[in-house]
Amino acid sequence: MTIQTVATKPFAGQRPGTSGLRKKVTEFQQPGYLENFVEAIFQTLGDLSGRTLVLGGDGRFFNRSAIQTILRMAAAHGVARMLVGRGGILSTPAVSCVIRKRAAFGGIVLSASHNPGGPDGDFGIKYNIDNGGPAPEKITEAIFANTQSAQAMSSYRISDAPPVDLDTIGMSTLEHMQVEVIDPVADYAELMGRLFDFDAIRALFARGFTMKFDGMSAVSGPYAKAILEGMLGAPAGTVMNGEPLEDFGGHHPDPNPVNAAELIALMSGAGAPDFGAASDGDADRNMIVGRSIAVTPSDSLAIIAANATLAPGYAGGIKGIARSMPTSGAADRVAKALDIPCFETPTGWKYFGNLMDAGLVTLCGEESYGTGSDHVREKDGLWAVLFWLNMLAATGKSVEQLVGEHWARFGRNYYSRHDYEAVDAAAADTMMAALREKLPTLAGQVLGEFRVAQADDFVYTDPVDGSVASRQGVRIIMTDGSRIVFRLSGTGTEGATVRVYLERYEADPARHAQDTQQALSGLAAIADDVSGLRQRTGRQTPSVVT
Ligand code: G6P
Ligand code: ZN
Repeated sequence: MTIQTVATKPFAGQRPGTSGLRKKVTEFQQPGYLENFVEAIFQTLGDLSGRTLVLGGDGRFFNRSAIQTILRMAAAHGVARMLVGRGGILSTPAVSCVIRKRAAFGGIVLSASHNPGGPDGDFGIKYNIDNGGPAPEKITEAIFANTQSAQAMSSYRISDAPPVDLDTIGMSTLEHMQVEVIDPVADYAELMGRLFDFDAIRALFARGFTMKFDGMSAVSGPYAKAILEGMLGAPAGTVMNGEPLEDFGGHHPDPNPVNAAELIALMSGAGAPDFGAASDGDADRNMIVGRSIAVTPSDSLAIIAANATLAPGYAGGIKGIARSMPTSGAADRVAKALDIPCFETPTGWKYFGNLMDAGLVTLCGEESYGTGSDHVREKDGLWAVLFWLNMLAATGKSVEQLVGEHWARFGRNYYSRHDYEAVDAAAADTMMAALREKLPTLAGQVLGEFRVAQADDFVYTDPVDGSVASRQGVRIIMTDGSRIVFRLSGTGTEGATVRVYLERYEADPARHAQDTQQALSGLAAIADDVSGLRQRTGRQTPSVVT
């Protein structure tokens, strides 16, 4: 075993996006492509002697070979100890959990989240810091700068050791580095057992309560099986699509009513289970479904916040809530009632890290099916599902009842996101630029049945470190609180994805049963008018509506 120095040169475009570097597998398979990015990470981290890192991924195609490469490079860079999930598997929240529990220096997560997997699909890599959360921009920008520097990328270091056995739990060594293959579920399951009332949930299942959890053939399957069917006694078969497959069995592992159509269909038929849930590729997203109702992620955050004290881990109350800017204001109303702060951050889970570290918030959520708390520093799909189970067990109510009663108390924020995927990038940029130019003229204008109160491009100043993130999305806010938000996705890999977020508040319970798209049709028409979206992109209808 020796350490090799291999000549290389920079690859363009290795800038980590909203959540790490995500590219087509074929791009990652170019000789040196993954190695360069990993070299850039290690160079950014500096002296790693004596350090422990955590490594694992969502099991998609290229996961195993990337893990072997990273292990050999970590050994060459003097990492003392590497904790790897068995089979190369660790969900994103589990990486965060293990980093925190084992006081590791950081971790590398291999995932492209909900993006399709397989040889023609996507792959991704991101670095998490010692709080268990995604590296802040300061670090990701330094990594990017290294990837673009001819000097930094003149060579990378890698051991020529043979592959490590990833399938057997236990210790081995690679050069001077200790490699420990760990059970990917154990630490995470233990944490969940401390946060939620497992006895009450077990009793719920024992009473005949039925549930379907759709693992979408991605990484949440092993976690859901171990916890729901194992520890909580849900009947075998509760978890569907529970085996992680390299191509996710052709599923698009992004839990929303469009992609999880199989689950949605199950929930409305005769003999539908009491509760349905799904998670994404790397198990950090969640979708909550009741009989004939899919709970919007924005509502889910608000309902969890309003009922948080039902779960033992939150019995003392929550300190504050944070939501991403495009997420609906439903949580704000709960925060107000609880007299706790509610923060509005840019899109991207990383913006919640400082708030949680500073003890300003307990719960965080995003419209993009992400919910979580300060138990880890990633959003956490199964955590949200267990929170709902805990609420259902503690109240004896159904999902529809919990949602209906919440709306009756706080009002309903009708909410929908319209996505225009793989749009011509130049057309999308021009549209956003034109919108930004229009902003100063919009306030005071009457659009349809609304009057514009405020129109701006969202700027966030982090209350903890004072850092400023600008150009985070164009907002048109009406005098009644209704909103239209325009953003370009930071996670797409093909052309541009335009996201249009629509929100309308309705206080009157007599008007809470409207169809969402109908309730928002006026705002949708205004959105198209103001942006010229249809005309500029040539798209008549959104590709996905959630
Ligand atoms: C990832 C991030 C989220 C973010 C989401 C949507 O899942 O972890 O924090 O909300 O991407 O990002 P996008 O830029 O595609 O709207
Ligand atoms: Zn994800």
